[in-house]
Amino acid sequence: MKAVCYRGANRLQLENVSDPKILRPTDAILKVTMTATCGSDLHLLGGYVPSIKRGDIIGHEFMGEIVETGPQVKRLRKGQRVVVGSVIACGACYYCEHEMWSLCDNTNPNEMLEETLGYIPAGIYGYSHAMGGYAGSHAEYVRLAYADWGAFPVPDGVTDEQAVFVSDAVPTGFMAADNCNIQRGDIVAVWGCGGVGLMAMASARILGAEQIIAIDCLPNRLQVASDRLGAETINFHQTDVPEALREMTGGRGPDACVDAVGMEAIGFGLVSDAYDRIKQTLRLETDRGAVLRQAIMACRKGGTFSIAGVYLGWIDKFPIGAVMNKALTVRTGQQYGQKYIPRLLKLVQDKKLDPSFLVTHRTDLEGVPKAYSTFKQRSEGILRAVFTPN
Ligand SMILES: NC(=O)c1ccc[n+]([C@@H]2O[C@H](COP(=O)([O-])OP(=O)(O)OC[C@H]3O[C@@H](n4cnc5c(N)ncnc54)[C@H](O)[C@@H]3O)[C@@H](O)[C@H]2O)c1
Ligand SMILES: [Zn+2]
Ligand SMILES: [Zn+2]
Repeated sequence: MKAVCYRGANRLQLENVSDPKILRPTDAILKVTMTATCGSDLHLLGGYVPSIKRGDIIGHEFMGEIVETGPQVKRLRKGQRVVVGSVIACGACYYCEHEMWSLCDNTNPNEMLEETLGYIPAGIYGYSHAMGGYAGSHAEYVRLAYADWGAFPVPDGVTDEQAVFVSDAVPTGFMAADNCNIQRGDIVAVWGCGGVGLMAMASARILGAEQIIAIDCLPNRLQVASDRLGAETINFHQTDVPEALREMTGGRGPDACVDAVGMEAIGFGLVSDAYDRIKQTLRLETDRGAVLRQAIMACRKGGTFSIAGVYLGWIDKFPIGAVMNKALTVRTGQQYGQKYIPRLLKLVQDKKLDPSFLVTHRTDLEGVPKAYSTFKQRSEGILRAVFTPN
């Protein structure tokens, strides 16, 4: 089959590889009908995740048709149209039973993250060997592990371009908003207007937030946040964010702050940003903490800081004093797709949520390398590109 493989930092190539096979009785094979770019792929391509190897197939936001099932697959059948959560979970361990799906104990056989994280998180499709070494979705076919738990039938009337993001961007954004414990009338500020940030805003609205403030430096994305989701916007290249937030919240600060940017945050021109860049380049620090620091400082006393952006290791100058003395609640995690996906598909079917506006670029597998370079440069007004392998 054809698949898009990693060939070194920022190099992707369409290649012929062997078709995936059922390896365990709980596996299924999916014919991929749509798969998308995600901001997490940029961390991989940028070389920030050392355990990706040449030849690995990337991609983790996807959907398709079940074409084969292993003997122990009970809930799925051939021909079903499903969306697949990007995180793999076994459905039977302590964490799965407690709905903390991305912490599953049984889907990541690789122990390499134990030293960095203390315990090993779940596997993720197409996201390096540290995350389990599973082949990704930018391919004609993909092997689904623990298929019964990760693949969800797409309801009638929901299009591919609506369903595909319910794999990753939508549950991530929804979980980020859910983690904010939103009360009616709350003010929620979101750093980052990529797919994840925009879905966090849409979800915050659904969960009862009254005022949403979107922060980014890309005018087209801020425009989308304003036009589609009714957010007020702050362009951090033009406006001092902490000062603006103070003003927009009557001097109190947002009730909840969401980081939908992660480890590659663009700095705000502060000394700490230059320091991050140098230390990250020298591999003395894994992640850049500009958004973490700003959001923690901006959050109102007793508020919530919700982190959806991916971080991999350490940052310096983490304002623990502000977290402690302002009694902030900090919540985070790789998305619990299995918990949220059914509810989100229903919201889409009921026309209460429509993520399809994230699609700005469409191509087949041939066009994937070019689409990623556009995505990395954030040119042509790109938000997310979708690929149709079959
Ligand atoms: N927790 C999860 O399960 C999960 C799932 C998917 C993605 N993610 C992570 O969420 C983050 C966002 O993903 P995405 O697909 O929306 O990415 P994206 O790259 O499309 O968007 C990131 C946005 O952040 C903006 N940005 C950069 N620096 C900023 C700053 N200092 N302040 C405000 N905005 C800034 C960029 O301009 C861009 O618009 C990534 O870190 C990704 O890895 C997490
Ligand atoms: Zn993702
Ligand atoms: Zn499990």
